[in-house]
Amino acid sequence: MKLLLIAICLSVLAFVSHADERQNSFHQNVQNLLKSRQQHGLQYHHSASDLNEHYKYPSQAEPGAANSLPNSRDRWIGVKMSAKLYGPGKKHIRLLGENQQQNNKGNEINKESYPGSESTETISNSRKSPTCSCTKFLSIFNDARTITSMRRVNERNLQASGFIMQDDDIGYTEPGANLINSGAENRNAETITTVAGLLRDREDIDVNSILNYAKCLHCRNLTLTSHSKYRSIDGFGNNLKNPFWGTSGTPFSRFGAKAYEDGIHSIRKSVMGNDLPSPRKIVTKVLLQAQKANPPTQTPNTLINMLVLYLTHDMAFQAPIEGSYDNENIRCCSNRNKNVLAPEFSHSACLPVTVPENDPFYRKANVKCLNMVRAQQSSSPCTLQNGEILNKATSYIDHSIVYGSEDLDTRKIRTFSSGKLRIPSNKVLPTDRFGNYLQSSLRLAVAPIGAVWPSIFARNHNKLAEGLAAVNPQWDDETLFQEARRINIAIFHSGIFSGRIIETIFKKRINETYKENFDASTSLEFSTAYRIGHFYLQPEMLLIDETGTTEKVPHSETLGRLDLVENYFEATVRGLLQQPVNYLNYSEEIFNRFAKNKDGMGLDLLSIDIQRGRDHGLPTFLDARRKSGFKADFKTFDDLTEIFPQHNVELLKSVYEDVEDIDLYVGAMLETFSSLDEVLVGETLGYVIGHQYQRSVGGDVYFYTHKVNPHPFTDSQIHAIDSFTFNHLICQNTNVEFVPKNWLIVESPTNPRVACRDYTRFDFQPFAMT
Ligand code: HEM
Repeated sequence: MKLLLIAICLSVLAFVSHADERQNSFHQNVQNLLKSRQQHGLQYHHSASDLNEHYKYPSQAEPGAANSLPNSRDRWIGVKMSAKLYGPGKKHIRLLGENQQQNNKGNEINKESYPGSESTETISNSRKSPTCSCTKFLSIFNDARTITSMRRVNERNLQASGFIMQDDDIGYTEPGANLINSGAENRNAETITTVAGLLRDREDIDVNSILNYAKCLHCRNLTLTSHSKYRSIDGFGNNLKNPFWGTSGTPFSRFGAKAYEDGIHSIRKSVMGNDLPSPRKIVTKVLLQAQKANPPTQTPNTLINMLVLYLTHDMAFQAPIEGSYDNENIRCCSNRNKNVLAPEFSHSACLPVTVPENDPFYRKANVKCLNMVRAQQSSSPCTLQNGEILNKATSYIDHSIVYGSEDLDTRKIRTFSSGKLRIPSNKVLPTDRFGNYLQSSLRLAVAPIGAVWPSIFARNHNKLAEGLAAVNPQWDDETLFQEARRINIAIFHSGIFSGRIIETIFKKRINETYKENFDASTSLEFSTAYRIGHFYLQPEMLLIDETGTTEKVPHSETLGRLDLVENYFEATVRGLLQQPVNYLNYSEEIFNRFAKNKDGMGLDLLSIDIQRGRDHGLPTFLDARRKSGFKADFKTFDDLTEIFPQHNVELLKSVYEDVEDIDLYVGAMLETFSSLDEVLVGETLGYVIGHQYQRSVGGDVYFYTHKVNPHPFTDSQIHAIDSFTFNHLICQNTNVEFVPKNWLIVESPTNPRVACRDYTRFDFQPFAMT
């Protein structure tokens, strides 16, 4: 008996010490991987140029460095709109109100039934404006083209003489920014924006009427007579009358009217006529100090935050304007971010964030400027839209992160055998034949946790292709590929809408039938709304092995490190399932250390979010509330106590000059902070999100439940799709052992874990073609 006990004790000890060893080796392996500073595909800083230092940072740049943002367009076309129209310091809120009535897609805004919206209204341009002939217009168009090319030459020269980002600068590169031949697209759109300025300055023509001159281009609007059986990769042809709606490489739509100071593309000012406060000041004085409601009792996990990230990047891809030379980024700040570059050394696309002197973090390194480059512009074919922003992704919910947004990309990652995508065993996403990931998918994996969902859906594609081949041996590669893609997209649609994910986290029920007049293009406000995900991010990536041993890695250490997910995929998924979203305050990883340099100084992503909103010409917070049908007639800051706690009102008062100045992102975050106990976004963003999803579902003829779908699913197929929940999806495409019953809420006694083996495979029988 004694011997038996000793044997048991020894084996327990051996097990424990073995478990210790395993824990230690998991820890050691993760640490070794992190030390190996091997970068995977992403670059945050540029390799040092071999140019002489003197040329890189001309000494005269420092004294002349501007305190306020250079208004680049002023230098080229002499736009001095605010002074000309409104006079300095004069309130022009009425005029902005009138401009608001303009809709970027034409003159008619269709306000269909959605809470707070009115019936259809036709907008006419109330201002009587002079006109010009097509001959005159075309001559102005040519001048604009010359101005745009001259500007390019000047900027190329600046970059050739060293005005590019360097290793030590604080800044980052958006992977895939140069996709979809966007350089040319952006140049054309910039020309149109320049035309708007010239028409107004030379001919006194109202910028809102520039659309009328599209007829001078003799461009024939394309319409289609029938749909293709499968949705195209780039979204083209989904809407027969407007085949470009939602296509990659066309502009974002707008929920509200665009708010540029000159109505064209220059940055909004305070209604008092001064520059708006620095975004960084707003971050440190308002967002980081704001009072918040308590978190709810049931907390969503980080895996749902990653799904929202995946979903938005499927629908939205804005990117900063590219430098003239490969791998060289436009520089907007002087050496080591000491100051904003003087206008004569600054690219016209520069829109850096000024950092106040007394900044709690940056002052120790004397940083006064954060690099930011304006977004690429776009104009829909056969229209003359000025100041619109390019969306490089298809707007449709169609897994563009996995399949790409253009045919060329998709062809690179297909094996052209059995309908499958190429996913090498040591990779998490589809690759080209050289083992490289697509740039369009890399941008989601800036932080490696972002790679989990695209990986799950890419694996699922191959599982679907295998299952379909088993029940339809007669199908060729093309049919297998298209059918697997079609079902993979349907599973996504079903999970989000029928599976009520959207309803659970945003309290919106979306159940639209197809409407031909719905433009599914993603709105800029929608993609801004989802930047709230930056608040919900925890400071660390969690890696949890099968014994429960947990490794925590700060996000700023993980950027570009796809090798972490490649080596520890399951540990990453367990970490995401078990890590609650952050409810406390923004993480420093996001507001001080994003893409940090070797001294640990990084960008402030929240300042970029605010500045990006100004770059995109988003409506102000109150204008967005007005558009959503919520109360917005707040005359003073104190009136805002109706929607915000007094503390938060005081914070706003300390930075903004007027209630009408409040940026959408800032007001919407404060609304969100007040409703944390109930829902993940406040009422305005909730409305914007609902408005978008109505179009995403109602404007997508291929949506999986639509009867008008050119290749509709049968009822039994829809049943198979709906029965394959996200729990099934996670379990079938990873090797994790358990998922919480409601996968998006962290495990608890009321949300217990369920073994993955309990989830059945996808039912292929309804897809067998006899
Ligand atoms: C995992 C860490 C994350 C990092 C490092 C990151 C980084 C970034 C960066 C660098 C941008 C572009 C900023 C600009 O130039 O305007 C961006 C945009 C954005 N981010 Fe994040 N982000 C993260 C997580 C998230 C999450 C969790 C969400 C949502 C749940 C989210 C939603 C968005 C959206 C919607 C945009 C705009 C996308 C577009 O319009 O193209 N991000 N993010």
